[in-house]
Amino acid sequence: MNILILGSGGREHAFSWKISQSSLCSKLFIAPGNAGTAGLGENIDIDINDFQAVKKVCLSKEIEMVVVGPEEPLVNGMYDFFKADQKLQNIIITGPSKTGAQLEGSKAFAKSFMNKYSIPTAKYREFDNSNFDDGLEYIQNHPLPIVLKADGLAAGKGVIICTNYVEALSEFELMIQQAKFGSAGKKVVVEEFLDGIELSVFVLTDGKNYVILPEAKDYKKIGEGDKGPNTGGMGAISPVPFATEHFMKKVTDQIIEPTIKGLQEDGIDYKGFIFLGLIKVEEEPVVIEYNCRMGDPETEVVLIRLQNDLVELLVAMDQQKLDSQKISVEKNNAVTIVAVSGGYPGNYEKGIPIEFLYLENPGVIKHIDDDGVGAMVFHAGTKNVNDKTVTNGGRVLAVSAMASDMGDAIELSKRILEEIHFEGMYYRGDIGYEFVD
Ligand code: AMP
Ligand code: GLY
Repeated sequence: MNILILGSGGREHAFSWKISQSSLCSKLFIAPGNAGTAGLGENIDIDINDFQAVKKVCLSKEIEMVVVGPEEPLVNGMYDFFKADQKLQNIIITGPSKTGAQLEGSKAFAKSFMNKYSIPTAKYREFDNSNFDDGLEYIQNHPLPIVLKADGLAAGKGVIICTNYVEALSEFELMIQQAKFGSAGKKVVVEEFLDGIELSVFVLTDGKNYVILPEAKDYKKIGEGDKGPNTGGMGAISPVPFATEHFMKKVTDQIIEPTIKGLQEDGIDYKGFIFLGLIKVEEEPVVIEYNCRMGDPETEVVLIRLQNDLVELLVAMDQQKLDSQKISVEKNNAVTIVAVSGGYPGNYEKGIPIEFLYLENPGVIKHIDDDGVGAMVFHAGTKNVNDKTVTNGGRVLAVSAMASDMGDAIELSKRILEEIHFEGMYYRGDIGYEFVD
């Protein structure tokens, strides 16, 4: 079948790499894609939030499956658009309905869903202009630190952890009364701060059944030792050592099962990925957030460990037959380290030439071999201009590596990063540090 992947990051290059290996995939298209995906399929330069443009591509390229990378098209209702269109409704689309995507698109929706189905999450209240004064009082009487979350999508910037009341009250006011995050922050979830270690768990569901993909941990801060401002993610590892069988059973029983059951009971159409942002508080898993898509850069470690044919899984998802699928995972340790533009996550330049020193093919360095050892350079913010690959975003490349030992995987990824150069390039040298002896 012809498959269209929507998005342009490292996650979408990893999807392209994985999907292009499937015998079920005939032609692969990526919109808009990047210089890496161009080596695996045909890039099509459209705005993926323009549903009519996506429709045109689906019809002209005879697409039978659409894999949606980022959340925005889903939150905007792409699934519902496909299902309501006679010409598109038979295309397999990975991602929930607009209502299902509210699990990511509205923090208040997600919190009330979790409360309804007794899914462990931080205690909270929600406020908007109508109960603004109650909010001020609530904050003043709440222990510190206190977490403020813009209800809607705020490009990953909508969560503020405040360590004093002056900051908390002023941020609260900025969000609700000064529209700091535009309409996304008109409603604010105020919740208790949870202290623990985070991990990401990925589920693929057909609305009835589900499979659990390899878990991962990402590193959000720009600086080594988890210092400085948040980014989209500077690296990731998988497996996560503290995600033991015992812990994952708690995640399954207390979080995944009730989530799937809740979606069914609420009549929410959901065929796609659920990315659970979890925190381990003492020994218990607690949900920090839901996402309706895969993570980036987590996908760049998850997919190199996943041994199943991803297209086969997505077909089973569409047919609500995921109960017939067994997930097979490479035991080895995977890491991805992200090389970013100088200045990121603040202002940065684009269009800087990337030199892949001795690398012949800027896409694949060394395929993961049968022993689960190898590396991949996934492109994130890159594009080709006159046969030259240049930077085109904050996160430029994600170098994934896998080996039986996490230390070896990290070393391999770094060795490859040393062979790549662009002006201002920066990466964290300590990804995975806490899990290496
Ligand atoms: P979110 O956008 O909900 O993933 O939040 C971004 C980050 O803020 C999370 O990955 C956590 O590191 C942090 N965070 C969010 N909510 C809480 C909370 N209740 N307690 C502690 N940290 C939190
Ligand atoms: N790496 C976090 C995310 O994709 O949201």
